Amino acid sequence: MRESLMLIMLCALTASAGANADRLSVQRQQELKDLVHQDCGSCHGMRLTGGLGPALTPQALQGKNHEFVTATISEGRLGTPMPPWRSLLSASEIHWIADYLKGWEGKR
Ligand code: HEC
Repeated sequence: MRESLMLIMLCALTASAGANADRLSVQRQQELKDLVHQDCGSCHGMRLTGGLGPALTPQALQGKNHEFVTATISEGRLGTPMPPWRSLLSASEIHWIADYLKGWEGKR
């Protein structure tokens, strides 16, 4: 199931390559996953179940909408260790991460 989904995504991406600048390559998505678990994970826990920062699992983010999550990632939280990421990540990358966090199933 997972594999076939990936294949469909890959075909969709290949078919529209260059057509949509906002669409992230499969390779970039993998890089973002690594960033989430390593860089974000250094504060939020490698399994995103919390550390210095709160848990970022779908359950933990359930009541928080997409805009709230993307704004937090983009701007950080002044006066807390949560840094702003807007100079390191594009808006579409931040949207992708927010979606990824919301759909995270704790399997890796
Ligand atoms: C240096 C530590 C640190 C790093 C690195 C970090 N965070 Fe955070 N993050 C925090 C802290 C601490 C908070 C809680 C801020 C507060 O008290 O309001 C937070 C809050 C958040 C929240 C809000 C959660 C909620 O329940 O309101 C989100 C979403 C978030 N971080 C995402 C990320 C993402 C995505 C990354 C990586 C791109 C990241 N953080 C990297 C420390 C960090």
